[in-house]
Amino acid sequence: MIDHSQPAITLRDAKSAGRALKSGYLSQGKVTADFEKSMARYIGVKHALAVNSGTSALHLALLSLGIKSGDEVIFPSYVCTAVLNAVNYCHAKPVPVDIARSDFNICIESTKRKITKHTKAIIVPHIFGFAANISKFLKTGIPVIEDCAHGIGADYHNKKLGSFGALSIFSFYATKMLATGYGGMVATNNKRLAERIKNLREFDNRADYITRYNYQMGDWQAALGLSQLAQLDSFIKRRREIARLYDNALAGNTGIMYRQAVRRESHPSWLRYIVGVKKQSEFLTRLHKKGIEAKRPVFKPLHRYLGLSPRQFPVTEYIYKTAVSLPIYPSLSKQAAAYIAKSI
Ligand SMILES: Cc1ncc(COP(=O)(O)O)c(C=O)c1O
Repeated sequence: MIDHSQPAITLRDAKSAGRALKSGYLSQGKVTADFEKSMARYIGVKHALAVNSGTSALHLALLSLGIKSGDEVIFPSYVCTAVLNAVNYCHAKPVPVDIARSDFNICIESTKRKITKHTKAIIVPHIFGFAANISKFLKTGIPVIEDCAHGIGADYHNKKLGSFGALSIFSFYATKMLATGYGGMVATNNKRLAERIKNLREFDNRADYITRYNYQMGDWQAALGLSQLAQLDSFIKRRREIARLYDNALAGNTGIMYRQAVRRESHPSWLRYIVGVKKQSEFLTRLHKKGIEAKRPVFKPLHRYLGLSPRQFPVTEYIYKTAVSLPIYPSLSKQAAAYIAKSI
């Protein structure tokens, strides 16, 4: 079976994590600080703070902005439940909106329609590694949290994603571009927000008491992260080669209704390669029979969990019912990718 996704763990990664494990220091320490510095440099921001997941990163980003009960947070419906969870952790009101038909990113018009005096943040994921039109969201004047769980290494106007919002978050979950099993990062240029996040992330041996969290990353995971980061550009290069191969092999295939549109001002990192097909379930089953694991890229849109009318989310519904994610990862061979394209 050709897997839908696979982490790119190399001998270099094993050696790096092994050295950290042998050092006898397993919790957050010097290696984590090195990983944070390297991430900040890579993204082009002043502060990066490592945490134990992308969800924790989102939670702390929201808390650092002071999000609390009575506040509203806008985000796209077509994204995983981690986003909704983080808003709920803060007891804020979740406000899902529809996505754009071209690139499946959060729709600016739908967002503007939902802004009220209670809107305190907008979460803008760069879905599947494709840059959202971030400048339009920045112009609303509402703090933007860039969700780069999919977007590490992609750019927008020649700057790395994650360097535009008030804050940005990253996930290093096993299926992500840079994988440490579990893990995440919050990045910001704002020293005050960075200090708040640092304060909330660590609970032990503190003079005062506020509710704090145990969201730290351990040094051996940071060692894996550091070594993955050093290889990230080569991983992305390989993903781009596979995307080109699919583009060429699938050009003119009339069964494919759409692909994810690339903004002219950006270069995607290709966490996912999406095709739109009429009979999604049948397509997935038939690929499976040919030994190929393809998937629905989002398990269930968030408005469905919240019991909101699908009529308010026509694009999300359409993409949810027709989008299929094909295998794309650095260890996928050219032959396997060609076989997938031929099977389609
Ligand atoms: C867009 C998005 N944001 C946030 C997260 C949360 O990341 P984590 O799984 O590391 O908690 C995920 C994914 O899993 C995601 O896909």
